[in-house]
Parts: sequence; structure tokens; C-alpha cells
Amino acid sequence: MPADLFRVALTRDFLDRAGRVGFGDIGLAALDAADGLAYEFLEDDHSELPAGSLAGFGAAIVLAPRVSRTSLQGADDLLVVARFGVGYDNVDVGACSEAGVVVTITPDGVRRPVALSALTLVLALAHRLPEKDRLVRTGRWSAKLDYMGEGLAGRTLGLVGWGNVGQELTRLAQPFGVRQVAFDPFADASAAARAGVELVDLDGLLSAADFVVLMCALTPETHHLIDAARLSRMKSGAYLVNVARGPVVDQRALTTALGSRAIAGAALDVFEQEPPAEDDPLLELDNVILSPHAICWTDELALGNGQSAIAAVLDVAAGRRPKYPVNPAAFGHPRFESHLNRAARRIDEVR
Ligand SMILES: NC(=O)c1ccc[n+]([C@@H]2O[C@H](COP(=O)([O-])OP(=O)(O)OC[C@H]3O[C@@H](n4cnc5c(N)ncnc54)[C@H](O)[C@@H]3O)[C@@H](O)[C@H]2O)c1
Repeated sequence: MPADLFRVALTRDFLDRAGRVGFGDIGLAALDAADGLAYEFLEDDHSELPAGSLAGFGAAIVLAPRVSRTSLQGADDLLVVARFGVGYDNVDVGACSEAGVVVTITPDGVRRPVALSALTLVLALAHRLPEKDRLVRTGRWSAKLDYMGEGLAGRTLGLVGWGNVGQELTRLAQPFGVRQVAFDPFADASAAARAGVELVDLDGLLSAADFVVLMCALTPETHHLIDAARLSRMKSGAYLVNVARGPVVDQRALTTALGSRAIAGAALDVFEQEPPAEDDPLLELDNVILSPHAICWTDELALGNGQSAIAAVLDVAAGRRPKYPVNPAAFGHPRFESHLNRAARRIDEVR
């Protein structure tokens, strides 16, 4: 093996039982085509990568396993941990920064598929898709007049969180003629005005929206942001959609609100506990659509995330700073800097 080969590890959980990439095409062709680089899937599937498992690798593309301080032991060549997705709660970013390891995410990969997922859930609720499915299956075809849906034109879409995904949903929802309001303390007011989105406070949003869509980051401030009091501010005919993170909603309060029809319904891709307990009363309700934190899992997502994570790895291998770092401070770490300088010198020599 050449001494300067840049080795890339992919966590084992990318592979299904048959040893194929479970997501389908994640853009590995770009790694195949790269000179001076070799990749392999880690031999074992771990919930936390053990010490030594990343030894000899310059990069790790990580799906679910935890990358802890212990995982970094012996990872003396590691420069980048590329998360396949935008959540990075499974990576000890502090430990990575201290070790001069850049952590990257794939916002360009999730943007469209997650926004489309939110729109899918809004449309499924508006058109009462699950109820109509049940009418056909249970021989109640003629009851369809009792299940009128709602057109989106003139209705109000309330976006809680107007970041990467929220702004994409705004673009996708524009042709439906829906009024859009958003609550995001960090939103750029002029960008919102240009996009035709009215920035409002949370209570204003909850009382105005026919569809409340949660697309904010999970932070100490957004934990249980939607609690019993906030749910009580929603219109009785309104729907709640959560594609962000389960703990943004007080799920017990939501279950009560749905059970008493204080709101019309909800659609959830994320839960406080994943998977929910088998006896969770939420599972008994007929006015909630449930999805196993996978509503956005499509070939588009897989390829987009894969290409983005691989681009980060190729950037680092070639001595460039990757596009979507979580801890840009790691760029200034002597280990990372000296790698970039070495790589730049190598490229100059080749030229
Ligand atoms: N369901 C899934 O499979 C899936 C996939 C990808 C992302 N997500 C989740 O979707 C959400 C949005 O992702 P993104 O890529 O747009 O992230 P992002 O970081 O670009 O946007 C999050 C937004 O939340 C806002 N925010 C922060 N604190 C807030 C507060 N107190 N109230 C309201 N808004 C607040 C931020 O200002 C930011 O604009 C995240 O929670 C992410 O974890 C879910």
C-alpha cells in the first residue's frame, strides 16, 4: 500500500444484511475515480466506534454510530468525520476539534428531500389521505362526503424554524398560493421579505396557521417549544407537522390535544423516544400520521447526502477546506493545517 494513500472508512451500517449499500447509490463512484485514495467499510457494526477502529484512516463517513473521544484513540491520521446527514449529536465535536478533526454535515443533501417530506405530510393531512385509504379498505366508500379535505390556497402555513429546510419549503409551497408566516429568532428579515414570508412571533404563528410545520434546530430553547400551552393557542382545525426533532414537542401534551380533538391532526416523522413504546397511546389515535424518522429517505436523499459527504472527504484529501464544517475552528489546528500545506505542496509538485 503506498505510504501517502488517503484511506477512507465508511461505517458498517451503510451495508444491509446482503452486504450491499442499503440506501442504493450514494455516489461511491466519485471515490472509485479519485487518485491516491482507497475506501472500505469498517468490518464491524458498532453503536460506538471503538478505540483503534479508525487507525490509519484520513477520513470517516459516518451514518449512525457514535464517534466519541474513545473512538478517536489511535486515529492519528484522521482529518475529517463526514456525517451523512445534518444531525451530528452522535459525534463528539469537542473531542474532534481538540484532535484537529473537522466534522462536516450535508445540508445540500437534505434540503430538498426534507422540505418535500414536510410538504408531503401537509398534503396528506390536507387531503385526509389516511382516512380515505381506510374508507376504501373497510368498505366505507360512500362515507367519502364526511371526509372533505382542504385546499392550500389562501390557507396559512406556519414555519417554526426558517433555515436550510424551512426556506426550501417556502420555495416549494409558493405555487400553492398559501400564505406563509415563520417564527425564527435568527432569520434574516430581508431574505424573508424577499421570499414573501412574514416573520411573526410564535404565539402569532400558532393562532394564525392552518398548518404548523416544525423545522427548527433542537436546542435547549426549543426543547418542548410546543407544549400544552402552545398547543392550546392553535386553531381547533389546525394541523401540526414535525420533521425536525421529537423533543421539540411535548409528546404527551400533543397526544392529549389530538385525543380531545383540540387540534385537527398531526403528522410526525420524529418522536421523543425512537422508536416509540409499543403501548404509547399516540399509536392508537386515528388523527395522526406516523413515519419512522424516514419520511425523507429517498434515492434523491441518499445520493445527495452521499455526494455531499464524499465531496467533503475529497476536499480534505486534496488539501481544501470542506464546504460544510460544523467546527471550522479545527481548520486552525496544527495537525489540520500541516496536512493542508502538505497536500498543497504535493499538488504543486504534480503540476
Ligand atoms: N426528519 C428527518 O429525517 C430530518 C432530516 C434532516 C434534518 N432534520 C431536522 O430538520 C430541522 C431543520 O434542518 P435544517 O437543515 O433546516 O437546519 P438549519 O440549522 O439550517 O435550520 C434550523 C433553523 O432553526 C432555527 N432556530 C434555532 N433556534 C430556534 C428557536 N428557538 N425557535 C425557532 N427557530 C429556531 C435556526 O435559526 C435555523 O434557521 C433540524 O431540526 C434537523 O435536525 C430532520
